[in-house]
Amino acid sequence: MKQRILTGDRPTGPLHIGHYVGSLRNRVRLQHDYDTYILIADVQALTDNFEHPQKVRSNIMQVALDYLAVGLDPAHCTFVVQSQIPQIAELTVFYLNLVTVSHLRQNPTVKTEIEQKNFGSSVPAGFFIYPVSQAADITAFGAHVVPVGEDQLPMIEQTVEIVRRFNRLYAPVLTEPRAMVGETARLPGLDGRAKMGKSLGNAIFLGDTADTVAQKVRGMYTDPNHLKVGDPGQVEGNPVFAYLDAFDPDPERVEDLKAHYRRGGLGDVKVKRHLLEVLEATLEPVRQRRAAYEHDLGYVERVVREGTLRAREVAAATMHDVRRAMQLLEF
Ligand code: TRP
Repeated sequence: MKQRILTGDRPTGPLHIGHYVGSLRNRVRLQHDYDTYILIADVQALTDNFEHPQKVRSNIMQVALDYLAVGLDPAHCTFVVQSQIPQIAELTVFYLNLVTVSHLRQNPTVKTEIEQKNFGSSVPAGFFIYPVSQAADITAFGAHVVPVGEDQLPMIEQTVEIVRRFNRLYAPVLTEPRAMVGETARLPGLDGRAKMGKSLGNAIFLGDTADTVAQKVRGMYTDPNHLKVGDPGQVEGNPVFAYLDAFDPDPERVEDLKAHYRRGGLGDVKVKRHLLEVLEATLEPVRQRRAAYEHDLGYVERVVREGTLRAREVAAATMHDVRRAMQLLEF
């Protein structure tokens, strides 16, 4: 039997090339070797968007479209809408007994996000405990492997702690997951900022037209001191080269371009033209598949619904084991 993967995204916006490099590409590769569950985490998305349910609702299908467009195949992947798996909410309630408030307060990912989102002292309790609910996501499906970016590692650590605690206290019914960190940590934004994000306005989306991508690449931040073509340029902190590292299938060519740029004599226009070509080699097929699925939204909905129903049975089996282990009644 294949090992099981559980991974997912919050549907708060369309997916961008940062998601592609950080996780989607990896998932497409892994789907053949693992029984893959992909969670469209709308419940988690609501923890910091509860005032905007429409935003979450409308992005569920957008994210599903992005998944299919990058080549995630329903024959290998089970797409799951989180809010349709009530067992995740049930497990969350029981797991909450196994963690302390002070421990949750120390979670580095949540800490950073609380600062970024300017919650101040009004952190919603639902947001504060989302690592526990993420432990429920992972264990509900008995995932062995969770492919994640670096920033999500504390979530897996928290899950492992809950699993060990549960199994020791009640009965060894939960599967202990392990994290699998992808090779490219994070793609910077078009503006050179460390993170690409929809709200930062510095992203290339998988659904962008070829014209939009061309325009975005032309406007990318480069070395601000590289004024004349003949000037030596800086590669470090230059997002154009970070993208080439991530997308150019020929690393030797990238090294040559970097050397030339450092030396001087290689203009930004020329490197960007090359980058656009390399990006489009990935994005054009994605765009075409996306367009095809957009014309058949009925199919996309069916894939999501059938995946979710299948997943619910797996979660129900876990819940049954958990109830027995915890000596809960089950009528
Ligand atoms: N927290 C993840 C994110 O911010 C999304 C997510 C929810 C997830 N549940 C998960 C990822 C379970 C991996 C496993 O994108």
